[in-house]
Amino acid sequence: MIKNMKKPIVIANWKATKTIKETVEWIKIAKPSLEKVDCASVVICPPYTSLPIAASLFENTNIKLGAQDVSKFKKGAYTGEVTIEMLDGLVDYCIVGHSEKRRYSGETDDDVIEKVKNLLESTITPILCVSNLEQLDSYLDRGQVIVEEAEKIVFVYEPPSAISGGKAYRPDSPENVDKNSGKVGKKLSKKVTTVYGGSINPDNAVSFFSKEHIDGGLVGQASTNPNVFVDIFSNIKPAGR
Ligand code: PGA
Repeated sequence: MIKNMKKPIVIANWKATKTIKETVEWIKIAKPSLEKVDCASVVICPPYTSLPIAASLFENTNIKLGAQDVSKFKKGAYTGEVTIEMLDGLVDYCIVGHSEKRRYSGETDDDVIEKVKNLLESTITPILCVSNLEQLDSYLDRGQVIVEEAEKIVFVYEPPSAISGGKAYRPDSPENVDKNSGKVGKKLSKKVTTVYGGSINPDNAVSFFSKEHIDGGLVGQASTNPNVFVDIFSNIKPAGR
C-alpha cells in the first residue's frame, strides 16, 4: 500500500474491442468490485455500441462512462458521425485526440481543438490526449479555449511509443512521465488534471499514480480483461486513509 497518494482518476479505454454481449460479461465480472472502489474515480470508455447497455448496468453506481471520440460536427448531413447531442446524458467524459484516431482516421490538431471546444460547451468533460509537449504547444497556440478552460479538461500525456497496442507492455518510466506531466501544468500556468497513458497494468499502476504530477491513468489493454482491470485498484491507498 502506498500512503500519501491523491485519489487518482483511472480511465478504461477499451478501444475497438467488445461486442454488446462481451460488454455485459465484463460488467458482470467487474461491477461488484468496481462499485466498492473509493480509492479512485473510475471511468469506463466502451465503444459507442456498448454505451447504452453499460449506462443501464452502471446506473446508481459511482462508475462513470466516457466515449472514445465524438464528431466535430453538430447535428446534420454527416453520415456516420456521432454528435455530442447524441452522447449527452449517456456519458460524463469523452476521449479526444487519441494518437490512434489521428493515425488511422487522419484527425488533425484543428479537428481535435474543435471537438474540445464543443465538449466544453456541453456537460461532457474532454479527456484530451497529447503525444508529446510539442503537440500540446500546437493545441495551446491554435486553441485559446484550451488555455482558458484548462481546469475543465483531463489532459493525458501519452507517448505513442509507450502504448501497448494490445501486445507487450512497454511503459515509459514514471520519472520521465512525472517530469513531462508537470510541464503540462507549467505551460498552462495552473494546476490541471494530467494523467498518463501507455502500458499501465496492475504491476506498475501505483508507480505512476504515486508521482506528484500524475493524477491517474488511461488504461488500454489492461482494461479489456475485467479481472486485470479490477486488480489495478488493489494497491491504491490515497492520503489520509
Ligand atoms: P495501453 O493503451 O494501455 O494498451 O498501452 C493505452 C491507450 O492507448 O489509451
